[in-house]
Amino acid sequence: MTMNIAILASTNGSILPVIFEQLQSSLDLRPSLLLSNIADCGALKKAEAKNIKTIALLSEGKMREEWDTEAIHILQEHSIDLILLVGFMRILSPIFVNAFPKKILNIHPSLLPKFAGGMDLEVHQAVIDAREKESGATIHFVDESVDGGEIFLQKKVPIASRETAESLKKKVQALEGKMFVEAVKKYHTIFPSR
Ligand code: GAR
Repeated sequence: MTMNIAILASTNGSILPVIFEQLQSSLDLRPSLLLSNIADCGALKKAEAKNIKTIALLSEGKMREEWDTEAIHILQEHSIDLILLVGFMRILSPIFVNAFPKKILNIHPSLLPKFAGGMDLEVHQAVIDAREKESGATIHFVDESVDGGEIFLQKKVPIASRETAESLKKKVQALEGKMFVEAVKKYHTIFPSR
């Protein structure tokens, strides 16, 4: 059964090429839409380069619920079955989360439940400051909590003695793209009829 996948993104989308390359060959599991809240971000450009439909629904100056309600309509119009948050730097309101129960997967760059709540480099910096020996990434379902939804997939990387937030981000991102591909396939086997 075909699964219609949407990606929500706000940043450069460094891990998108891996996701696109490995999922575009699959007729059943192709990302069909990339929705961004930021104009001209790298993620939009990477999707356009792969002929994936893009929509920029700008969030600047909008109330949280207003953006979320418009995004819900767009995703419903496109009959989206699964939403991947790939560098999506907004907290989603209960209105959005409850419109897609168990259909939203986020990647967070730490070994949740450790270091929940921050974003991107600030998470990596917090991990280094805490003198952790390992870090990683976690793909989890999105619910009304912040980074607290059920964990779906988690992978670890060791932390080197001179690690910086930037070097740790690179190391973790080397896992993230492949993790999303694995997570989508796993999701499809668990929820084949969606
Ligand atoms: C993502 O790869 C992910 O690790 C993290 O931000 C990165 C964005 O990287 N996501 C979050 O922190 C979500 N709360 P990019 O700037 O290379 O696209």
